[in-house]
Amino acid sequence: MQKSSVTNHVHNAILSRRTIRRFTQKQLSLEILKKLVNAARLAPSAANLQPLEYVIVNEKNVCSQIFETLGWAAYLTPRWTPSVEERPVAYIIIVVKDITNKYYPRDVGFATENILIAAEEVDIGSCILYNINRATVREIINAPKEYQIDSIIALGYKAEHPIVEELAGSVKYWRDEQGVLHVPKRKLDDIIHLNGFLER
Ligand SMILES: Cc1cc2nc3c(=O)[nH]c(=O)nc-3n(C[C@H](O)[C@H](O)[C@H](O)COP(=O)(O)O)c2cc1C
Repeated sequence: MQKSSVTNHVHNAILSRRTIRRFTQKQLSLEILKKLVNAARLAPSAANLQPLEYVIVNEKNVCSQIFETLGWAAYLTPRWTPSVEERPVAYIIIVVKDITNKYYPRDVGFATENILIAAEEVDIGSCILYNINRATVREIINAPKEYQIDSIIALGYKAEHPIVEELAGSVKYWRDEQGVLHVPKRKLDDIIHLNGFLER
């Protein structure tokens, strides 16, 4: 029996996931959104302190308000934001209850990736955003003061399919004339140091 079929599924999702910033307007069920948060819930957590909580936003009106707080694709010029008909249809806002836990940003990283990969597995596109207006987000979701707004994951079915490019000089992603996003990534050989930093 091929034991690796599930593993391959996850691995394929890791390889195929790209940041998506254009979405169809098909709604995401609350069941799927909860499934994504459940994937985050089970992520590694430093000292197992589990300081993260998640605000799911799926109401159209609240989605519109959250959208206004987001900064998209800083490398694209002229300034670009999704058009009205390609906006995310849901958000997961990551909030932290105890920021004296100095490891919480690492917890955020693990939890975020679990959400992004779980989404990719069911063909849902995602974009993690850190460039957000936290004060406004706080007001919109009525966050109690002991909660820190960390980041926002924008979600929806994909209306674009970015392409990975071999990095050649610049890390800046770009859109071509057809609007397709190209994302440069470093080569595998450039990031592996086999048995240490040996002379070449
Ligand atoms: C910590 C972090 C913050 C990010 N913040 C934003 C953001 O505010 N806006 C945005 O459009 N993309 C944001 N991104 C997405 C990155 O631009 C994207 O991951 C990068 O271009 C690589 O593309 P890929 O995710 O398809 O591999 C962020 C990614 C990370 C990891």
